Amino acid sequence: MKPRRILVTAALPYANGPIHIGHLVEYIQTDIWVRFQKLRGHRCIYICADDTHGTAIMIRARQEGRGEEELITEMQRQHERDFAAFDIQFDNYGSTHSPENRRLCGEIWQSLRAARLIVEDDVTQLYDPQAQTFLADRFVRGTCPRCRSAGQYGDNCQKCGATYRPSDLIDPVSTLSGATPEVRTARHLFVQLNQLHDFLVEWTQSGRHLQEEVANYLKGHFLHEPLRDWDISRPAPYFGFEIPDSPGNYWYVWFDAPIGYLASTQQWCDLHGERLDDWWRSPDTEIHHFIGKDITYFHTLFWPGMLKSSGFNLPTKVHIHGFLTVGGEKMSKSQGTFVMASTYLQHLDPAWLRYYYAAKLGPRLDDLDLNLDEFAAKVNADLVGKVVNLASRTAKFVETSGLSPVYPDDGGLFQQAAAAGELIAEAYENCDYSRAMRLIMELADRANPYVEAAAPWNLKKDPAEADRLRDVCTVALNLFRQLAIYLAPVLPRLAEQTGRLLNDPITAWRQSQIPLTGTPVARFEHLMKRVDPKDVLAMIEDSKPAEAAGQTPQFQDSDQPLRDEPIAETCSIDDFVKVDLRVARVVAAEAVPDARKLLKLTLSLGGDQRRTVFAGIKQAYEPDQLIGRLVVMVANLAPRTMKFGVSEGMVVASGPGGSDVFLLGVDAGAVPGQRVH
Ligand code: 2FM
Ligand code: ZN
Repeated sequence: MKPRRILVTAALPYANGPIHIGHLVEYIQTDIWVRFQKLRGHRCIYICADDTHGTAIMIRARQEGRGEEELITEMQRQHERDFAAFDIQFDNYGSTHSPENRRLCGEIWQSLRAARLIVEDDVTQLYDPQAQTFLADRFVRGTCPRCRSAGQYGDNCQKCGATYRPSDLIDPVSTLSGATPEVRTARHLFVQLNQLHDFLVEWTQSGRHLQEEVANYLKGHFLHEPLRDWDISRPAPYFGFEIPDSPGNYWYVWFDAPIGYLASTQQWCDLHGERLDDWWRSPDTEIHHFIGKDITYFHTLFWPGMLKSSGFNLPTKVHIHGFLTVGGEKMSKSQGTFVMASTYLQHLDPAWLRYYYAAKLGPRLDDLDLNLDEFAAKVNADLVGKVVNLASRTAKFVETSGLSPVYPDDGGLFQQAAAAGELIAEAYENCDYSRAMRLIMELADRANPYVEAAAPWNLKKDPAEADRLRDVCTVALNLFRQLAIYLAPVLPRLAEQTGRLLNDPITAWRQSQIPLTGTPVARFEHLMKRVDPKDVLAMIEDSKPAEAAGQTPQFQDSDQPLRDEPIAETCSIDDFVKVDLRVARVVAAEAVPDARKLLKLTLSLGGDQRRTVFAGIKQAYEPDQLIGRLVVMVANLAPRTMKFGVSEGMVVASGPGGSDVFLLGVDAGAVPGQRVH
């Protein structure tokens, strides 16, 4: 078969937050697909970048008192570090804030202009006179014009579900500065997407590029009526690229983000002496986008529209996946299930998550549930119990002899497993990894009884059985190697270790078809640990917000759909006044040795009233600094049992987290036990 040329992308992560286990579903899914294609001998490149523009980054940089470029450089370094630790291997990882992207945005813009798709219109929006910026809907809060609930966002009410314009809010307030916004009008640029309506119907409904449920969703929600014009510009100030023929206006982040796929490919081409047009304007190249279901609209309507109008290839396929839930529920910070990639890595092996996600991922858009008990059980039963065991119980017996020179009779096991290769490959190709993992584990289920029955550990005791022992181990190690090849897209480290063990690096799928004979066997190195549920619990514990330490705010780009955690349900003033805040004096303070964030405080509320409180302020305060100091505490918080003891309240502090957490100041004349309002 002629090798295919395949360009693969995963959605560009925002530069405004760290990578978490929800993101990893997509980057791991995509990495597996790319590794599979490479193993099959195809030319395949995996392209990604940080998505850096927009209001959120601008505001965050302002609040942190630094430039946007410094901020996005730091975030990109963190993202790349986390991806690499999970063996997610990009061929190029760029940034949308790059000269390549600016140039390509200009090129596509010219094409849209030439196709007469750009029009101008006035947009009336709320404006923050203090922060001197227009306010996207999510940066305005006020009272719902329908049900009168306070504290609602500018676009919809979380209480009654009403949708409205931000200017309809009663008593609107800018969340940036607290100022009362003004209504102002600015000229915006729009893409008249509806001119491409016929093309988009044909492309989305052809049955070739999208999963069926996606095609139906687009037909039912958007394509059954004229498509609305797409507002593609934002007035200054905005962190992004200024539109060359419209000074003072910037391309909206969602315009330049997908063009980042092209820009990052351009960088890769420049580094490898290739031409962009061979990848993006050639009938010989396939383009595959992997994305989450929340950004379907951008990738299946706007993006094909932009590509079509500027003469680039259209995506061959957009592969769309569902969200991650943990224990059947949305990831939650307070429950400790909103786990950052870096926190996961402090406790658990990345290979485990790669395998677990693979075992759960199908070709449809269903959400993927991470059940922590199942995670431990599955990794231990499948990878440690069925796969790695084949090698760990046999390799040491052939360390000196090597594998048999001729492949022994194994009752047809190797051939059966070789024959399953095409079915497994088909499952990978169709992104049906759960089926691929099931098929592989079925092979492991056949291999293990062979080893049990042959009992090499008994043969070892009898010198007359030396040849038989070598044959049995040769079979077991070959069956193991076949599994390692089939699992290589998911478990690249295991494949590397297997290559070293048997002195034959795993580089191609077809290696699964021919047994290895006569090669030396290296000293057995430990392949994989069992999951200890205690480590899983420690990871969850470590992901819970430290008591009293303000949560790191998640700056969302207000123009983007909220992806991570929606604002919690409204809390009424009646709920709020239940909180009993009291002045307390710190009478003892010590670090909790095994906790990264916690100090154990003993607080006096006056008289002999004492409370023990675990507070997440270790990175911000030395215990000695605190002794004698007055703080504010929530005195009526229900006691909570933590790993280190019972916490009987909470001290009030705020800040972005880490060393930037500040205890609320108390007037020197205040008295412990005094109520605070
Ligand atoms: O939803 C997101 O996280 C976006 N940053 C994805 C952008 S993908 C592409 F269009 F660049
Ligand atoms: Zn309402």
